Amino acid sequence: MIPIFDLTREYKTINKELNTAFTQTAKSGSFILGQNVSLFEKEFGHFVHTSYAVGLASGTDALTLGLRALGVGNGDEVILPANSYPTAFGVAQSGARIRLVDVKSDGTMNPVSLAHVITRRTRAVVPVHLYGNPADIVSIQKIIGLTKIVLVEDAAQAHGTPSAGSMGDIGCFSFYPTKNLGALGDAGMVVTNRKDVAERLKRLRMYGETKRYESVEVSGVSRLDELQAALLRVKLRHLAEWVASRREIAKQYIEELRGVGDIQFVTDNPKSCYHLFVIRTKRRYALRAYLTARGIGTAIHYPAPIHLVRAFRDLGYKHGDFPVSEALSQEILSIPMFPSLTNGEILRVVRTIKKYFQ
Ligand SMILES: Cc1ncc(COP(=O)(O)O)c(C=O)c1O
Repeated sequence: MIPIFDLTREYKTINKELNTAFTQTAKSGSFILGQNVSLFEKEFGHFVHTSYAVGLASGTDALTLGLRALGVGNGDEVILPANSYPTAFGVAQSGARIRLVDVKSDGTMNPVSLAHVITRRTRAVVPVHLYGNPADIVSIQKIIGLTKIVLVEDAAQAHGTPSAGSMGDIGCFSFYPTKNLGALGDAGMVVTNRKDVAERLKRLRMYGETKRYESVEVSGVSRLDELQAALLRVKLRHLAEWVASRREIAKQYIEELRGVGDIQFVTDNPKSCYHLFVIRTKRRYALRAYLTARGIGTAIHYPAPIHLVRAFRDLGYKHGDFPVSEALSQEILSIPMFPSLTNGEILRVVRTIKKYFQ
């Protein structure tokens, strides 16, 4: 069996370091907003080159609270790409009204389409660095120009993609276990160069407090756990090397699968951190069944664009509104991608795919 990702292997390679971090945290007796959270915020901010980083409970909260910290909420329009399933929930929770825009063939927001969707009610644009593919932030920034629209990067799949998360007003990260940098549970982070936003986020993650029991605005609780922060600090030390392995695996896939059947690569960009390796074929369902029968794990990220997801029916869109996103959802397939995938496994994946197309 070759899984699409295998988190137990990652644990095995660094179990001593993780176990030490666990024991030290347990012995410290400090479990909420302690030294590890502050240090991880500093270290992760340094990694993405932003002045501030605020640890939160999840990537979804990073989007919701990040928008709120920027003053975006009820009734405001927020534009996001049509094929970014998890992003939509974080944005929706802020109370903002979602407007969708189609994507390019690499799954990231199409800046040309964006220009047609902006209205005077637009308060934020949320490009997603999907699969690790860098969204075209420079073109998006040009379109937003001198308006007051804020730029919120969803970098939940982009730990290790150069500049991802550091170019907008805020960058939102998830440390969901399968991410390039994953916790042993849920965790998230907002990175920013804006001091005002970082300060407000620190309030929003805990009762709107400026100091203990001194609350200035009503909010809930969304803290990054001290234990998760301790474990993430260990993993961050390995991230660059893990991203390099992902790029090496992607290179091999691209070399071996180019020209096979009708395969196209959705992920083929040297800047990508290759959170996922995604191919595209008109025979997606049959290929997937063939690989499953031969013990090769696959997944579909994502099977439906947001406007065709039941929960978002009330957005008022219909089939055919976002043709590129719709075509992608029918044709994409994610194949095994994780740093400790062996050469033998990569070759088996490639050989099996080639055999299917023969
Ligand atoms: C692009 C994207 N945005 C947001 C999220 C939400 O992150 P979390 O699962 O940590 O809430 C995810 C993770 O699933 C994601 O991949």
